[in-house]
Amino acid sequence: MPSAADTPSPPSVDALSGIQSYVARTLQRVQDRLEAQTASDLPPVQRLVRHVERYRGKMVRPTLAAIWGLAARPDAPSLNLERHDAPENLVIVAAVCEMVHLATLVHDDVLDEADTRRRTATVNRLHGNETAVILGDYLLSSAYHLCCQTGSTAAALAIGEVGMTLCAGELLQLHHREDFSLDEPTYFEIIDRKTASLIAVACRLGAAAAGCDDPAMAARADAFGRMLGVAFQIQDDLLDLTGAEATVGKSVGKDVEKGKLTLPLIHHLAAAPAARRGETLALLADTALPAIQRTAQLREAMSLTGSIDHARSVAAGLVSRARDQLTDLPDSPARSTLALMADAVVTRSF
Ligand code: IPE
Ligand code: MG
Ligand code: MG
Repeated sequence: MPSAADTPSPPSVDALSGIQSYVARTLQRVQDRLEAQTASDLPPVQRLVRHVERYRGKMVRPTLAAIWGLAARPDAPSLNLERHDAPENLVIVAAVCEMVHLATLVHDDVLDEADTRRRTATVNRLHGNETAVILGDYLLSSAYHLCCQTGSTAAALAIGEVGMTLCAGELLQLHHREDFSLDEPTYFEIIDRKTASLIAVACRLGAAAAGCDDPAMAARADAFGRMLGVAFQIQDDLLDLTGAEATVGKSVGKDVEKGKLTLPLIHHLAAAPAARRGETLALLADTALPAIQRTAQLREAMSLTGSIDHARSVAAGLVSRARDQLTDLPDSPARSTLALMADAVVTRSF
């Protein structure tokens, strides 16, 4: 546990309004850059690209990149955030991270056969899998094209590498579909790669684009994003098991339907007495029963072993470790906001 002196202090109202103004202005530039980069002269392609813009959600990755671009600066405490503008390269790397993320969502909805994303119909539902696959490729190519415009080989290498990492994570997950003996280390390997890697890169490239060349600071940004990313996916997996589509804004119950074991179920299967474990395995394998009913029965089973609470506490522990990465940063509104964002990852319901 960090000592009270090390815990980032809550930001003042003035500091919050400065950060809000900086983040809103930066995200608008990110959105403009993303729209300009993905625009097509072909009306049917342009309509698809515009549809994906409706997937715009919390903008977690660009927001983290933008705030790390402040927090890593030695002059962070004295910046006038009502006036300070993020450097163009920060806007670019933030847009690139969001585009890679959007591409993975378009592809992921094909894998999951999901109908709803961010309260809107998925591309695969509206236009079929073929279109969704190629549209995801278009977005990925577009992201690499944009990333090369920073002139930073390090950024281009990081984005190329993270693309491989997250696809490898998805492939490992596919390999373990219907594997009801999946263990915790393998689950963490999957989510570290498919989700945390990109969030870590967003934090690290945000700091670098703001001129930070201190390797220790880059390592802190990376570790913060990585731990937050793992917590973020655990929360996502909890919402898939416990959330309602109306609140979460996307199809839920998909993990059980697709035979993907996540932390609460892995814990339950390890903790349950043999008879109960057998019943849960039978339920998981009973594909004749609709996933929504199986998920409801699994929730009851998991409550017997405290498995939902277990997953929540693992995620909370990761958030606390992510916050520890902030203790050596200069005390600034940006640092306090990163701490607030870390907490929000595990209290969110969508
Ligand atoms: C995959 O995880 C998300 C990616 C990293 C592409 P999920 O399958 O859990 O994502 P959602 O729940 O469909 O958003
Ligand atoms: Mg999915
Ligand atoms: Mg999910």
